[in-house]
Amino acid sequence: MIQVSDGRARAFAAATVGEAVALEFHRIYDLADSLWGVPAYRFQILSDGARAGTISLRIGLTDLVVRFAGQLGFVVDPPFRGRGFAEQATRLLLPLASAHGLQPLWLTCNPANVASRRTPERLGAVYVETVALPEEYNIYAQGEREKCLFRLDLANST
Ligand SMILES: CC(C)(COP(=O)(O)OP(=O)(O)OC[C@H]1O[C@@H](n2cnc3c(N)ncnc32)[C@H](O)[C@@H]1OP(=O)(O)O)[C@@H](O)C(=O)NCCC(=O)NCCS
Repeated sequence: MIQVSDGRARAFAAATVGEAVALEFHRIYDLADSLWGVPAYRFQILSDGARAGTISLRIGLTDLVVRFAGQLGFVVDPPFRGRGFAEQATRLLLPLASAHGLQPLWLTCNPANVASRRTPERLGAVYVETVALPEEYNIYAQGEREKCLFRLDLANST
C-alpha cells in the first residue's frame, strides 16, 4: 500500500485527464493540519484548463472519516455545476483511493443536499444508513444533524 506523498500525487494528477475534467494536484494535508485527523490529498478539478472546483481524498478509517465526514469531499464552483463534474472527478480519483487500499470507499452527504446525494448514486454506491452526527463533530455547531452514508465498492464501480 502506498504512503501519502506529494510526488505520488503530482504524478497521479499529471496522468489524470478525463473526457470533461482533469485533476491537478493542489496540496497534501498532513496530520498536523488535517481537519479530519487523517492525511488527505486535495486536487483542483479543471475544465478546459480552468478551475472548476476541488476534490479531496481522506486517507483514514476513523469513525469521523468513515461515518461522518466521508473519505471524499468535493465542491464544484457554481458556474460549472450541472454537468456531473463531481461524479467525473471522483471517477478520476478512484485509482488513487485503490492504491491506498481504500476498499470500499465511504461517502457521506447531508440528507437535504440533493446534488451531493446524486453523486454517490451516479457512481453506483450503495446507501447504507442515515447516521446522527455526534455533538463533538464541528459541523454539529453549524446546525447539521445527520449524514447519509454510502459504500462504494471499488472493485465493482462502473
Ligand atoms: C454537490 C456538488 C459538488 C455537485 O456538483 P455537480 O457535479 O455539478 O452536480 P450536478 O449539478 O451535475 O447535479 C448532479 C445531480 O443532482 C441534481 N441536482 C442538482 N441540484 C439539484 C437541486 N437543487 N435539486 C434537485 N436536484 C438537483 C442534478 O439534476 C443531477 O441529477 P442527475 O444525476 O439525475 O442528472 C455541487 O452542487 C456543490 O459543489 N455543492 C456545494 C458543496 C457541496 O455540497 N459539496 C458536497 C459535500 S461533500
